[in-house]
Amino acid sequence: LQTELMAAIDSADTLDALDAVRISALGKQGSVSALLKTMGAMSPDERQTQGPIINGLRESVTAGLAAKKAALETAELNRRLASEYVDMTLPAPETPRGTVHPVSQVMDELAEIFADMGFAVAEGREIEDDWHNFTALNIPETHPARAMHDTFYFPDEMAREGSKMLLRTHTSPVQIRTMTSQEPPIRIIAPGRVYRSDSDATHTPMFHQIEGLVIDKGIHLGHLKWTLETFLKAYFEREDVVLRLRPSYFPFTEPSVEVDVGYSMVNGKRVIGGSEGWMEVLGSGMVHRKVIEACGLDPDIWQGFAFGTGVDRLAMLKYGMDDLRAFFDGDNRWLQHYGFDA
Ligand code: PHE
Repeated sequence: LQTELMAAIDSADTLDALDAVRISALGKQGSVSALLKTMGAMSPDERQTQGPIINGLRESVTAGLAAKKAALETAELNRRLASEYVDMTLPAPETPRGTVHPVSQVMDELAEIFADMGFAVAEGREIEDDWHNFTALNIPETHPARAMHDTFYFPDEMAREGSKMLLRTHTSPVQIRTMTSQEPPIRIIAPGRVYRSDSDATHTPMFHQIEGLVIDKGIHLGHLKWTLETFLKAYFEREDVVLRLRPSYFPFTEPSVEVDVGYSMVNGKRVIGGSEGWMEVLGSGMVHRKVIEACGLDPDIWQGFAFGTGVDRLAMLKYGMDDLRAFFDGDNRWLQHYGFDA
């Protein structure tokens, strides 16, 4: 039987075939198992002579099966290694890489430009209260400017200290948060998200602004003009940037000034620089006495200027993009088209 079984083990050429041999020998109905069972009925003498032989048979069959199993597994592994080897000399597949979003890049750029001029970065809140977003900025409850802001309000139950909560409609509340928490002199910019219920090619319900605020003694409109001119020349990287200051109206500045930059037509495209046409880029003015007072400062001692501009708009002007909504679609082809891929 041993010779027979060993031959069967030897000729099994797959793991399945080997298992069949194992069952035929050591399984419940197996030939070796049958022999082991006969030992129970043997006389002690018989058992003494037959026992070692039968057990020896079981041991050698078990060992033979294990050795063959290992051999078959090694062979299988070698076969797979031979067929599935990795060619380390092949070029690696290209992995797409992420980049910083154009809006974030522009915000970083602006922060750097203003840092060079001595401005710190201040932070406010995207969920604001009515007082910081409107009232303290000289926009009382009944002011028509409130209607113009298309504000997203939170339900009345969420009001805090009698002030309705809302998504800030501009970064100007950061002026209030800064003046009420820092001693002047103040020189800050505040970049961030703002929200208005509005959507078309040039408006998205969420967009980005950057606010600027300077509060000191003896600040006048000349300081504002120099600051904006220096910043816009640095941002557009052109010395021929021309500004046009137009009288305007904001409840929180007096006087208020809207600022346009001049452009020229080059091959049918608007290019910043020169003065063939004008594009509005920001709102600004001298901080209103009432705003300075609302923040607990004496407007006879402290004066200043503020400005606010759309970051998305500035990005569109610099990189020649025409649809604001594409900024928030997350389409890689658009990023590549404007050279913002890695
Ligand atoms: N907050 C104004 C807006 O969103 C911009 C502005 C800021 C104007 C600061 C004047 C001073 O349109």
